[in-house]
Amino acid sequence: MTFTAQIKNVTFPDIIYNSSGPRCTTPEELEALGNSESSAIMMKSCSPESRNGNPEPRYKEVELGSINSIGLANHGYQKYIEYAAELKQQFPNTPIIASIVGFSQEDFLLLVEAFQNEPSVDMLEVNLSCPNVVGKPQIAYDFEVSDELIAKIFTVPGDKPIGFKLPPYFDPVHTEMMANILKKYPVSFITCINSVGNTLIIDPETERPLIAPKGWLGGLGGDYVKPIALANVRMFYKLLGDRMTIIWCGGIKSGVDVFEHLLAGASLVQLGTVLWKEDVACFARIKREFYEYMEKKWYTDVKEIIGKLKEL
Ligand code: SIN
Repeated sequence: MTFTAQIKNVTFPDIIYNSSGPRCTTPEELEALGNSESSAIMMKSCSPESRNGNPEPRYKEVELGSINSIGLANHGYQKYIEYAAELKQQFPNTPIIASIVGFSQEDFLLLVEAFQNEPSVDMLEVNLSCPNVVGKPQIAYDFEVSDELIAKIFTVPGDKPIGFKLPPYFDPVHTEMMANILKKYPVSFITCINSVGNTLIIDPETERPLIAPKGWLGGLGGDYVKPIALANVRMFYKLLGDRMTIIWCGGIKSGVDVFEHLLAGASLVQLGTVLWKEDVACFARIKREFYEYMEKKWYTDVKEIIGKLKEL
């Protein structure tokens, strides 16, 4: 069975790894990912300076998923350079991915340059879609600003693959507008989708919202968002699948979910809410389920199913 993936010069030993979000902020959490069956170590989105993030409670699980407003709590990019160097020594065959975020163009450029120059980091995911910073709209909903930022990012020297984590789009016209921007640059991959931003969950018992920050609004993940993620993967695959890798994030909790997303056009998948809920054991379980489902359907290579959704 062949379940590997390749993005430029980066080889993934399997196709399932963690999203930048749960359980990837501290060195201990990152080491636990390295020791798990995750096929890469994605680090928490980092900014130039460390951040405490939003006030608690800022993450809650519910039956159908999760709501979070962490607010990009991280240790600052210099720490993630140190963590990556330590991880590479321990896990030399596991791709290490830096997730970067900024609050100005200068921030993004500083971080892209820093990680392009760090040998232990294999790939860069630029987060254009965090919904949880008060007063800061999700960058990728502003097409002009995104275009300008992406153009600048590709002026930074370096040959590591760079991709973008996108928010969910709810109208094919918007998907197409973003695809037309991405087409202009040597983008290696896109990750669809970040959490569905600014949602509200109420506990009827307490008559209160579940989380405190941002007027109680947070990013929705888990079962709720799977069909939205699937639609985004499919739309982007049709528009961009011949020029960049599509990575799915949003609502995976079983091996069959992985199968569906590959059919829609994803080549790799990231786990978010399920990792929060089950910890790193979820990688081995979901991988096993996926292998079993492939076997049941007589498939032996992921290439046989990627994008092969049958037409109606
Ligand atoms: C957060 O830190 O608020 C979540 C990360 C993200 O949505 O990009």
